[in-house]
Amino acid sequence: MMSGSLLDIGCGPGSNATFFGESFEYTGVDINPDYIDYARQTYPGMRFHVSDATQMEVDHARHDVILINSLLHHLDDSDTAALLKATTQLIAKGGVVILQEPLVPSSSDWTARLMMTLDRGKHFRALDHWQALYKEAGHRVVRDAFYTIRMLGRPAWRMHSVMLSPCNDCSGGSE
Ligand SMILES: C[S@@+](CC[C@H](N)C(=O)[O-])C[C@H]1O[C@@H](n2cnc3c(N)ncnc32)[C@H](O)[C@@H]1O
Repeated sequence: MMSGSLLDIGCGPGSNATFFGESFEYTGVDINPDYIDYARQTYPGMRFHVSDATQMEVDHARHDVILINSLLHHLDDSDTAALLKATTQLIAKGGVVILQEPLVPSSSDWTARLMMTLDRGKHFRALDHWQALYKEAGHRVVRDAFYTIRMLGRPAWRMHSVMLSPCNDCSGGSE
């Protein structure tokens, strides 16, 4: 079981605190003050702050795990790249960044295409696009996995789950 400090960026109403709050010193941040109010009331022992992930301050705090679940497809490439870059400075030595994001569905997958159209996030990306963003920010992929969220028996979101770690020479195009 891992332990230490965990920063959950784009934490929403704090659902992930259920899974990680007992093992980690958990902090959740989200731009939506209603979500943060709800999270504070629901998980009184944990820290939650209203914060815009595109304006993250890189202070002296270092986290063993940074979790970003389904936020980045709400941000354009420039803001996504800046946030991923900021995580390389917010992570403690030996720490990891864990992302989960939807991939662009294939053109034949009409339910997933429909869900993408209806989603509030407007920056669904293909796998190679995500990989280029990780590399540009100075991260290497430690491991990754794929899974499908289904609705009404049909695939609705094809998800990419990835663990990243800062890498000094990753952004230079040598890997
Ligand atoms: C799909 S929800 C995911 C919520 C949560 N991570 C989860 O796993 O349940 C996306 C979240 O990103 C937040 N968000 C969108 N833009 C943001 C920004 N610029 N800074 C911080 N949070 C943001 C939204 O308020 C929302 O809570």
